[in-house]
Amino acid sequence: MNQAALILIKPDGLKKSLTGNILTRLSETKLEIVAAKMARVSRGLAEEHYKHLKDKPFFEEIIRYLRGELHDRRKVMALVYWGKEAIKKCRELAGATNPEEAEPTSIRGSYGRITTSGVYENVIHVSSNELEAEREIKLWFAPEEIIVELYPKKEVSERDFKRAVWA
Ligand code: PPS
Repeated sequence: MNQAALILIKPDGLKKSLTGNILTRLSETKLEIVAAKMARVSRGLAEEHYKHLKDKPFFEEIIRYLRGELHDRRKVMALVYWGKEAIKKCRELAGATNPEEAEPTSIRGSYGRITTSGVYENVIHVSSNELEAEREIKLWFAPEEIIVELYPKKEVSERDFKRAVWA
């Protein structure tokens, strides 16, 4: 069964110019990229993404980290990888969440660090399971931004809805 996984290349990954490197590493999975974009991260989006951690002492710091406040890079790259065992394959290449515990050759083991205040700067986020992947992908992407049918969707007609088009 095909699976989808959300990957975020976090602001430290962007600042360290690791995008190409990380995408090359992830291409070893032979998974398909079915959505990709650069995104500004609002406080609301960051808080929703990490909502299961809101009682942790490092919550405020990871919100600031994801928003790019610690690296002067106010953006992340968001991607959806899709294929057989996508989550397991991406998580293996990413390495353990704690960069000190990650395999030295994994993405986080190679490029991650722990800040002096104890927060993991681990370069990428990878969904932890299918339920979380669905929640996260729906949070980060609209249905029309994903080139395969991942989840059920519905059509709504919005009167007076305005959007920008190329002039
Ligand atoms: S849980 O509930 O602890 O298992 O949380 P988990 O899903 O593994 O995600 C934890 C995210 O918080 C980031 N983070 C830290 N976790 C634990 N301890 C410390 N000190 C810490 N600092 C940051 C961690 O990197 C996870 O975010 P992602 O984006 O998944 O890497």
